[in-house]
Amino acid sequence: MNDTFGITPITDGILSYRMTGEQPLEGTTAIVTGASAGIGEQTARVLAADGAAVVLAARRERRLEDLADELESAHDTTAVAVPTDVTEEREVESLVEETVETFGGVDVLVNNAGTARGSDVTDLETDEYRTMMETNVDGVFFATRAALPSLIERDGHLVFVGSFAGQYPRPFNPVYAATKWAVRGFALSVEASVGPEGVAVTVVNPSEVRTEFGSEEGEPFEERFEPGEVTEPEEVAEAIGFAVRQDGSTLSEIDVYRRDKLGFF
Ligand SMILES: NC(=O)c1ccc[n+]([C@@H]2O[C@H](COP(=O)([O-])OP(=O)(O)OC[C@H]3O[C@@H](n4cnc5c(N)ncnc54)[C@H](OP(=O)(O)O)[C@@H]3O)[C@@H](O)[C@H]2O)c1
Repeated sequence: MNDTFGITPITDGILSYRMTGEQPLEGTTAIVTGASAGIGEQTARVLAADGAAVVLAARRERRLEDLADELESAHDTTAVAVPTDVTEEREVESLVEETVETFGGVDVLVNNAGTARGSDVTDLETDEYRTMMETNVDGVFFATRAALPSLIERDGHLVFVGSFAGQYPRPFNPVYAATKWAVRGFALSVEASVGPEGVAVTVVNPSEVRTEFGSEEGEPFEERFEPGEVTEPEEVAEAIGFAVRQDGSTLSEIDVYRRDKLGFF
């Protein structure tokens, strides 16, 4: 593809600036929650390729360590695994404290860890309700609260992985939807509150993505959907990377939908 108009083309999903070896996030530190799989794992790859030191948080330690090794071998950067359950306030605080002690601060927090359980309200168990609320809402609050002082100090970037389900009503899993409406409401109001202090805030809203998501209900999305049918985690990760790369970003929200999503329920 020719760069006829001086616009950098996208080639095979890889932004061509990467071919020049440019590392726009060099010298920055990013925490990614839910980095052991799916969107978070791919986001860690994108941010490390851009030169960020990455702090990988989730519960499955072995996966995080394998990913950290892979990223350090592939890129001229540092990657550390910090096993964290985002529903545990103290663990999330330690995650941020360890990051600040090791790297001096936090430039990017990607609030990505999330889960879905059950579907209809009438059949939803209370513990399924609590798991969704504690992971998708409490976890996001704990991480944001802990990282904000450093993000403000460093003119950092807060990214929230929202959802189509947090933007439009739909006829299944209203509690999961409610958690994502909460994430967006929180994120946009945090933007209103700390935007003037130099923190960029972006909510990235995917529709269905082919990841392990849904595995608690027996069928992960990566098996339910064929390649090409819905969004791939790499595409969402690229959207997150794009947002984080903007200096003084005003990208409040990015929607990454399957092509037929607006006509499909
Ligand atoms: N896939 C979709 O269709 C879709 C659509 C819209 C939005 N989203 C959102 O995208 C985000 C990522 O989902 P995904 O599709 O990448 O799903 P995934 O493949 O199932 O990955 C979920 C990640 O969250 C982590 N996680 C779950 N509970 C956690 C906890 N208590 N503490 C720490 N980490 C936890 C998991 O790690 P461990 O199990 O190792 O802890 C895993 O790394 C979620 O917020 C989800 O709601 C997904």
